[in-house]
Amino acid sequence: MAERRGPDRWFFDIWSRFYDAPLVQRLTYRPEHDAVLRGLRGAGSGQVLDVACGTGLLATRMRRELGARVVGCDFSRGMLAQAAQQRRADALVQGSALALPLAPGRFDAVVSTEAFHWFPDQAQALEEFFRVLAPGGRLLVSLVNPPLAVMGSVAHRVSRLVGEPARWPTRGQMRELFEAAGFHVESQQLVFRVPATLILPSVLTIGSRPA
Ligand SMILES: C[S@@+](CC[C@H](N)C(=O)[O-])C[C@H]1O[C@@H](n2cnc3c(N)ncnc32)[C@H](O)[C@@H]1O
Repeated sequence: MAERRGPDRWFFDIWSRFYDAPLVQRLTYRPEHDAVLRGLRGAGSGQVLDVACGTGLLATRMRRELGARVVGCDFSRGMLAQAAQQRRADALVQGSALALPLAPGRFDAVVSTEAFHWFPDQAQALEEFFRVLAPGGRLLVSLVNPPLAVMGSVAHRVSRLVGEPARWPTRGQMRELFEAAGFHVESQQLVFRVPATLILPSVLTIGSRPA
């Protein structure tokens, strides 16, 4: 059971205070947000759920650039407080990715950026994403996918040692997780980030719930 322990919420509550710093965003998160926006563009975004939305920077861009109606969900009150203050989503809900407090079949797309590695049971999170998507709906998940499984294992051990356990699947493992949850994998795209791309590449995996 200890293996399934996730990171602590206070860790993200503190992080939320520095999260929107322009340099942090430019180097780390914005390239993934850009990739998600490209992935959604043209496919008709409609109702979108941003799981582990943080301070809502991607949510606000999906509303502005795609005209989507966006619900943001996160388990950190600190992150949600920042998102609420700036009115970055149409609605915000506090909840875990493993038990989304949302009705089935409600969304045209579910997105999640730089958060999937924190989910203590990734298969369960994917089941939840599948449940809240309408048939034909799309799932876009972006995070670092180490090139070798051994790199993921070492990173997991280090994260446990510092008390904030995380799991980074390889690109192949990500595909397997998607398929095991019932998704059809449409594509997997490298997200270019300076300077981390070569050693720790971010990958956007796009899948769809069969119609
Ligand atoms: C690095 S931030 C990414 C935020 C946002 N997706 C972005 O790209 O800017 C990770 C977020 O995941 C959230 N998080 C981590 N584990 C979670 C869980 N089990 N359920 C919901 N949110 C979670 C944290 O609170 C934090 O806001």
